[in-house]
Amino acid sequence: MAPENRIKVGLAGCGYWGSKHLRVLNELPDCELTAVCEPSAENLGKVSKAFLPEFITDDFDEMLESDIDAVVIAAPARLHYPLAKAALLKGKHVLTEKPFATTSEHALDLAETATALGLTVMVGHTYVFHPAVQYLKELVKSGDLGDLLYVHAARLNFGLLQPDVDVLWDLAPHDLSILAYLLEEEPMVAGARGAARINPNLAEVAHLDLEFMDGLFAHIHVSWLEPVKVRRLTIIGSKKTVVYDDVAPGEMIRIYNKSITLGERTGENGFAPPTYHDGDITVPFVKQDEPLKLEDAHFMDCIRTGARPRSDGWQGLKVVNILESASRSLYNSGSLEDLTPRYYFQTNNGAAEEGGNGHTRANGRVNGMDRRTNSRGRAGRRNGTRALTKGQVRE
Ligand SMILES: NC(=O)c1ccc[n+]([C@@H]2O[C@H](COP(=O)([O-])OP(=O)(O)OC[C@H]3O[C@@H](n4cnc5c(N)ncnc54)[C@H](O)[C@@H]3O)[C@@H](O)[C@H]2O)c1
Repeated sequence: MAPENRIKVGLAGCGYWGSKHLRVLNELPDCELTAVCEPSAENLGKVSKAFLPEFITDDFDEMLESDIDAVVIAAPARLHYPLAKAALLKGKHVLTEKPFATTSEHALDLAETATALGLTVMVGHTYVFHPAVQYLKELVKSGDLGDLLYVHAARLNFGLLQPDVDVLWDLAPHDLSILAYLLEEEPMVAGARGAARINPNLAEVAHLDLEFMDGLFAHIHVSWLEPVKVRRLTIIGSKKTVVYDDVAPGEMIRIYNKSITLGERTGENGFAPPTYHDGDITVPFVKQDEPLKLEDAHFMDCIRTGARPRSDGWQGLKVVNILESASRSLYNSGSLEDLTPRYYFQTNNGAAEEGGNGHTRANGRVNGMDRRTNSRGRAGRRNGTRALTKGQVRE
């Protein structure tokens, strides 16, 4: 692409993850990385000089004054909101790392600000760009798995403890964004438990339970304390089960042709004897492409075309809504009270009604919405789940 047509990008943060954006942004043909903001000379010293532009600053506002079109923010989570907001107000498109923000109020503000200004805002939900997740998306859509019975995800490793967010806010955005993408539904939080054993203020291990429509439930386990790295998502269907193992290169997806059916209720006490169906295990070919490169390329495309990003601000808000509800449960010993997302209605309104950069602006806060209507307008939840509350907004 001719240099004058390239999108000029500034990168904020060149730590562990920012250094990967730095490489990837240099590799994209329609992107020109013209500025870097990094206050740590030590971290700057660790990245390859070949990738660094001439203009380097430790002052984000100074970077915003340069002639960049867009910023990529890979700074610590607590800074996502103030940096992204400042960038939007200067007319820059924004890709900010996950979590989108550390409160739903801030996430809503970013989504609304970008909408109002006609700018692209995108969240680094990297896994929704992963070819294996694309494969899962097609598989779920095809109905081959049968009815979805339940889902569980495990994202475990040793470190890296974050200074400003707990393990839930650091790791669960990946699984939550994958589930939102695959199931196209916004779940209810059904409780979270966890523990802060090293740093008394921020949990290092958490278990999160979610409820989707039609009785589908999901369990997410995240931890910074486990020596064995696990990145696994299992979707159990009535006909087949799929396991996505992100640390099994070349065989990330396995489909198990196993199911159980019940016969006539002829047994003792009306017991219906189960029949176990056991078939092949298939390992489909999944193209290997770097998810972060696909994500950053998508950001460039959306800026250029005005298309709505796959992980736009409204998707970011959905994930933050869940994290916020989950935190209330986690830090109240698994309490099941008060878990209704604060901005549930706005999330669906913004996400469902519009495409492109000009999303419909969510109109204020809505009280009294029936929480049992989800983004696909389906009502109700199967019996046996806990009573649901109305979706009034709490202050
Ligand atoms: N999408 C993913 O898969 C993924 C993976 C890892 C981390 N992340 C996210 O990336 C972000 C950074 O994480 P990390 O592990 O690289 O942390 P890190 O601490 O290694 O890097 C953060 C960098 O931001 C810099 N920084 C601090 N204040 C700044 C400011 N005002 N302006 C610009 N830079 C500033 C720090 O000096 C540091 O170099 C986090 O939000 C994290 O959640 C995303």
